[in-house]
Amino acid sequence: MRLDQFLTILGVGSRKQVKRLIVRKQVRIDGRIILADDYNVEPKIQLVSVAGKIITKTCHTYYMLHKPAGVVTTSQEKNQRTVFDLLAAADQREGLYPVGRLDKSTEGLLLLTDNGQLGYQLLLPEYHIAKTYEVVVNGKITEGDQRAFFKGIVFPDGTKCKSADLEIVRAAANESQAVVTIYEGKFHQIKKMFLCVGKKVTDLKRIRMGPLVLDPKLAVGHYRELTQDELLRFKPYFNCKK
Ligand code: URA
Repeated sequence: MRLDQFLTILGVGSRKQVKRLIVRKQVRIDGRIILADDYNVEPKIQLVSVAGKIITKTCHTYYMLHKPAGVVTTSQEKNQRTVFDLLAAADQREGLYPVGRLDKSTEGLLLLTDNGQLGYQLLLPEYHIAKTYEVVVNGKITEGDQRAFFKGIVFPDGTKCKSADLEIVRAAANESQAVVTIYEGKFHQIKKMFLCVGKKVTDLKRIRMGPLVLDPKLAVGHYRELTQDELLRFKPYFNCKK
């Protein structure tokens, strides 16, 4: 990863401030002053310091996982396969946790990180992180359902959902497909919203969470580290330490 990008992601400063620090000989890699902002840095094996302070220990791990149906998201479940069982031993990290839950039967995008602050901020209601799902239901989705989702579904216990986007992909009497985007994360939210309009979800897959899109090349049950570009897209949610 480029040195200037790495320092920006960690919140050392803006791109301009970071370049200034480099020019002023404030940045060292493994003790050596580095003057090139495009210098290639490998934070897991190199020690980076800014103004004499080592910053590489604050470097976190981020995995995009294509969760299969049939595994649980939590690490606490006994006698159940969890998403952590999908990680190779060498990729396990202390403090790694999933950002938001998916039901056991739900497939799709799951972010795993040991950056507690990022997860916390992504789940804050004021950020209105969009989560997009591909859905199959056992009945005909109508324009009336679309309007009801847009207005905000109210659960039988009185809980009111925020406005959601419902895009109909295919509607037939005994099965329909749709893409739904919600801006919050209530327990079993999508399934409950469809039950309120008289349909049962038979297949659910998350394809997007905030700025992160499920990589179509990532096979079910597989995972990979976030790319530099994906990390940069999360930048607004990083709690920048100046
Ligand atoms: N809504 C659900 O009903 N289940 C999930 O796993 C995610 C959203």
